[in-house]
Amino acid sequence: MLIQDQIKAKLKDKNAVLVAHYYVSGELQILAEETNGLVSDSLEMARFGQNCDADTIIVAGVKFMGETAKILSPEKTVLILDQKATCSLDDGCLIKDFTKFCDEHPDRKVVVYANTSAQVKARADWVVTSGSALKVVKHLHENGEKILWAPDKNLGNYVQNRIGANMLLWQGACIVHERFRAEALSSLKIKHPKAAVLVHPESPQAVVNLADVVGSTTALVNAVKNRNEQTFIVATDNGIFHKMHKVAPNKKFIEAPTMKEGSDCEYCAHCEWMAMNTLENCLDVLKTGKNEIIIDSIISKKARQSIQKLLDFTA
Ligand code: 13P
Ligand code: SF4
Repeated sequence: MLIQDQIKAKLKDKNAVLVAHYYVSGELQILAEETNGLVSDSLEMARFGQNCDADTIIVAGVKFMGETAKILSPEKTVLILDQKATCSLDDGCLIKDFTKFCDEHPDRKVVVYANTSAQVKARADWVVTSGSALKVVKHLHENGEKILWAPDKNLGNYVQNRIGANMLLWQGACIVHERFRAEALSSLKIKHPKAAVLVHPESPQAVVNLADVVGSTTALVNAVKNRNEQTFIVATDNGIFHKMHKVAPNKKFIEAPTMKEGSDCEYCAHCEWMAMNTLENCLDVLKTGKNEIIIDSIISKKARQSIQKLLDFTA
């Protein structure tokens, strides 16, 4: 039997659902869609997991996405495909250091990006995603709040510039988006003058400044679908091209240039942790029940309040 068919049978057996991020392999994305699961950005992955009636949620993505699913659905079993699939933003914001940072600035509302641990979320007043950060910060700014923002300095900078809010930024970064190069992107734009440039806001400011569209992964996919241009230069993880080709099969996509530390790879924006998600480990977790997400109940309850606030605010 094909591995895809074995996974489909196990999903059915266990009343499980596969929820995948756009950055995982095309094979996993196809499987999620064929089995009535979901492929989306981190905000919609969280919402879907909470609203579905499966007993088990299989998260094809990274650890924080599995934790968010578990926090929102404590009664469901949540499994991730590889326990080592983390995120540089999550790894770079340890709860001990983050608590100290918050304690030093008690006058600020604590807003954290979803790409963080359950403990960090539990310390936050609000959790946001790239698809909701502008809206939440605008709301807080209009209510006269000063903000402590963590962990992504690039997304924080982008939001601060757009909204004009008073924001103190933790200095974390996504190692994938951080590598996009503005100068090389400018040269590429000259070669493709009719192309629209799509940029995820985890990218450096100089890259964001060259964009026609800045937004979450879903916003970038929608731009491809809805805009008139036939060619798109895309500055985000190249896993997203699977969905972009699907929604606009006749359009042309070009990867924005990167420079990976210690390598000469010029077009290689792919998250090493997202790449750990495979069909083989999907079948394995379904068979064994391994990689279950377990979260302390007090942490989970506190984190749920700040995530739920976001889901209600963006409903
Ligand atoms: P999105 O919420 O836009 O999907 O971003 C998640 C992420 O990890 C991007 O690197
Ligand atoms: Fe984290 Fe960047 Fe990978 Fe997204 S692409 S999961 S932000 S390291």
